[in-house]
Amino acid sequence: MSSRTGELSPQLHAYLLAHSAPADPVLRELADETARRFPSAAVMQIGAEQGTFMTLLTRIAGVTDAVEVGTFTGYSSICLARGLADGGRLLCCDVSEEWTSIARQYWQRAGVADRIELRIGPALDTLRALPAGPSLDLAFIDADKPGYIGYWDEIVPRIRPGGIILVDNTLYGGQVIDMADQDASVQGIRDFNDHAAADDRVELVLLPVGDGLTLARKSSASRG
Ligand SMILES: C[S@@+](CC[C@H](N)C(=O)[O-])C[C@H]1O[C@@H](n2cnc3c(N)ncnc32)[C@H](O)[C@@H]1O
Repeated sequence: MSSRTGELSPQLHAYLLAHSAPADPVLRELADETARRFPSAAVMQIGAEQGTFMTLLTRIAGVTDAVEVGTFTGYSSICLARGLADGGRLLCCDVSEEWTSIARQYWQRAGVADRIELRIGPALDTLRALPAGPSLDLAFIDADKPGYIGYWDEIVPRIRPGGIILVDNTLYGGQVIDMADQDASVQGIRDFNDHAAADDRVELVLLPVGDGLTLARKSSASRG
């Protein structure tokens, strides 16, 4: 036994999934269709346990206003939208009409289309066009990695005190600690992790969920 998070064997991962709320048929079909149509890009989709965690977290926090940066074919957006409080809204940001056309179909099938608004265009522009004040309860960042600091800096002031920011891929397959790896996405994640860890407007933890999931809470005292 160890108090440190260990690596999950495929068998232990299967056990973990079998003892969590199951991904429903719509999410399973979305994962299958994404893998069939976009085999090389499908790895971008969050995993089932992360999706279930995000639904529960959204529900526990009573989220009404949420934003997602990086929607792809819609898996994470469905998980977030399902956790919203009654009357809640999710704004999705992406640059791809092709990938998000799949998301639109599955939003209908999942019964969440009426809670989601999609804005196509660079997410930084979409975020900057939002009201400057703290009106968001939750944000999920999962787009281009070199853009993460920019998204964070637009989002933090717009999150209400006590609100939540989730950031995906913050371990980046373990490449974050291989300093010989100078890939722009890896360096973007390293720079972001340093930036967020030094931000005194939030308290945060980098969780070994999926490819690394940073969970931040905006401090109640923060004005920024
Ligand atoms: C990792 S995928 C998102 C996966 C999604 N969250 C899921 O779980 O299925 C990243 C997405 O970010 C989008 N993206 C990349 N650069 C972007 C930008 N500058 N603005 C908005 N979206 C961008 C891509 O089109 C892609 O759909």
